[in-house]
Amino acid sequence: MSNASRLQELNQRLEEIKQQQLSLDLTRGKPATAQLDLCNGLDGALQGDYRCADGTDSRNYGGGLGIPEAREFAAEYLDAKVSQVMVGGNSSLQLMYQYVVHAYLNGVSGPESAWVNDASNGERIKFLCPAPGYDRHFSVCESLGIEMIPVTMDENGPDMDQVESLLKSDPLIKGIWCVPKYANPNGIVYSDEVVARFARLGKIAGANFRIMWDNAYAEHHLADNPPELANLLALSEAEGTAANAIIIGSTSKITFAGAGISFIASAEENIKNFVAYLGISTIGPDKVNQLRHMRFIKNMDGLRELMQSHRNILQPKFELVLKHLDEGLGDKTVNGKAIGTWTRPQGGYFILFDTQPGLATRVIELCADAGVKLTPAGSTWPYKKDPANTNIRLAPSFPSLEEIDAAMQVFVLCVEIATLEQAA
Ligand SMILES: Cc1ncc(COP(=O)(O)O)c(C=O)c1O
Repeated sequence: MSNASRLQELNQRLEEIKQQQLSLDLTRGKPATAQLDLCNGLDGALQGDYRCADGTDSRNYGGGLGIPEAREFAAEYLDAKVSQVMVGGNSSLQLMYQYVVHAYLNGVSGPESAWVNDASNGERIKFLCPAPGYDRHFSVCESLGIEMIPVTMDENGPDMDQVESLLKSDPLIKGIWCVPKYANPNGIVYSDEVVARFARLGKIAGANFRIMWDNAYAEHHLADNPPELANLLALSEAEGTAANAIIIGSTSKITFAGAGISFIASAEENIKNFVAYLGISTIGPDKVNQLRHMRFIKNMDGLRELMQSHRNILQPKFELVLKHLDEGLGDKTVNGKAIGTWTRPQGGYFILFDTQPGLATRVIELCADAGVKLTPAGSTWPYKKDPANTNIRLAPSFPSLEEIDAAMQVFVLCVEIATLEQAA
């Protein structure tokens, strides 16, 4: 069949689908209700006993570093020492934002170290942004006027030659965003060599450089024998660069996305300074929530058991998306070129689809017209500019299997239509 008649046939099918007036959404990586239900035991976990392990009354003010049992747990979760860890409120994104503002305005170790001092004569401070990446990291930079420099990634993580050469040539680069395991959105797990090179960046970067190591998906496996991520903080300590490493995590995709607890770890001095900064705006985190989390999850064994239950819900959804991609597009070519490529993540919350160059916007538009909402094109790139216009982030966690099935039929159809339109 010629490209033109195939396009006509597919457009006809799309028109029929439009009659169904679908309203489907594959945008944000939210846990499904069934996942949230796994942790309903949080409600009532305290049974009136508000005392922490050290006797503190969790209901009262104070405890800026977090309650002792939550710090112990977070240390194990983040692979850090208890003294290097602080446990916060319901959002690790908020902790990251607060850390960047603290470094920018107050300084990581006093006013002389504030990044803002370096931005003179109209020059702006900068962050490296391995891309595609997490849109909300980029929003933090954008909101503060921090210039973002995209960095290429391959299956081992960011291109470290590029990272090192940029850092050597520009001391105004003050940070880098990373999602080192099951990265949002491409699912990459950074290789041991990449992590080892990260641990040495503090030696070549300008003053007060920070690696924002957002390990949001550390235990969020979708496969057996999950890959191990090397321990950046321990490697950095060995290199004498622990102050450059800021390790972050949360239970947002473990317990309740909107009411979990968040963690941050780094050199002790960093954490002390950061907690002092936070103390200006709050007289301590929500310790009651920290305590009920610890009573409910108990320990890392409890956490891993819970993550297996999440996997049982998530895995069929990921498999269904992949089935549609494999069967709908797997061996199809247009003018001799594959219609698209996609990731097969071993964990995390996303599948990344790449169209042929220049087509992501059109595919997303076609899907929207047929009632299937996708993350806007470019949103996984700094300034929302995907230079090749190919990335489409698929988030299968929230919709039901039936909804995914319907949405993915539309998606593969629209990808083929857009590709044929361009080839015409
Ligand atoms: C990489 C990454 N970091 C952080 C977050 C948000 O975490 P939290 O709910 O702890 O703010 C997300 C949520 O999608 C994420 O994908």
